[in-house]
Amino acid sequence: MKPLVVITSELPDVAVAILSRECDIVSHPGMARSEDEVITILSEADAAITTLNEPITRAVFEANPNLRVVANYAVGTNNIDLDAAREHGVVVTNTPGVLTDATADLTMALILAVTRRVVEGDRFLRAGNFGGWHPLMLLGTGLQQKQLGVIGFGRIGFAVAKRAHAFGMSIVYHANHDHEEAHLVDARRVGLEELLATSDVVSLHTPLTPETHHMIDAAAFAKMKPSAYLVNTARGPAVDEAALADALERGAIAGAALDVYENEPAVEPRLLTLSNVVLLPHLGSATHEARNAMAATVAKAVMAVIHGQEPPNRVV
Ligand code: DGY
Repeated sequence: MKPLVVITSELPDVAVAILSRECDIVSHPGMARSEDEVITILSEADAAITTLNEPITRAVFEANPNLRVVANYAVGTNNIDLDAAREHGVVVTNTPGVLTDATADLTMALILAVTRRVVEGDRFLRAGNFGGWHPLMLLGTGLQQKQLGVIGFGRIGFAVAKRAHAFGMSIVYHANHDHEEAHLVDARRVGLEELLATSDVVSLHTPLTPETHHMIDAAAFAKMKPSAYLVNTARGPAVDEAALADALERGAIAGAALDVYENEPAVEPRLLTLSNVVLLPHLGSATHEARNAMAATVAKAVMAVIHGQEPPNRVV
């Protein structure tokens, strides 16, 4: 009998192409599932290809003793109880590297969009308000000689720093240790307080852990400059969204650009009403190139485990 691979979403074809010769595949396209739904759809699976929409909890591992591998179609693994996976002997893999450039590009797009009021300008024109060029119309903030503060200086944080450096920004970063290539972008490691107090743009690139949950809260906004912008393409719960809305409403910071949300797909309603906020629907890795590479990565990880080999990108 062929091993059963359950795919919890619709993926680029390359995943099925890699798996189909040696595996039975069942796809359950859907979004934002409950634990019970996940338990049901994974009940017979030998291998699961999951997304950040599925909570892979201890109960999921307990319900299916046959499960050998969970290949998460994301670099983040905060949707998975990694301790429970370890205890149940289930391999967990992710998709680092292949989405770095896509996510860094989107972060740079958000930095430019919010500082140069790109989305606001588009709305302004579509609303029929463009009456001709004006010296004071929709003025934004230039990036040159401004400071980018990168929180979390892994692959994506560093890739964002390279782009911002090319735009003439200076870089500081907050991380647990020095990055060996930081000198390439003249980046300096600083404490979180200094980063928040001195940066013109603060960009989040940390994984979501108990330590990073709400790391940007009311106290953090109080430390930021009133002229500063917050950008988040990492994980929503790293930012206290209500505190962000408060900070924006009282002008404690100049603007924000978000790709991720505290309670996806819900968005704090006050953010929807503010013109100095750019909001995207979690598009960080959404390029054909990145998503195809992610699909190949998860499929190869599943095949490796099925063949009894060490999978690439093993997290547990
Ligand atoms: C990730 O990889 O963690 C993104 O959020 C989805 O691509």
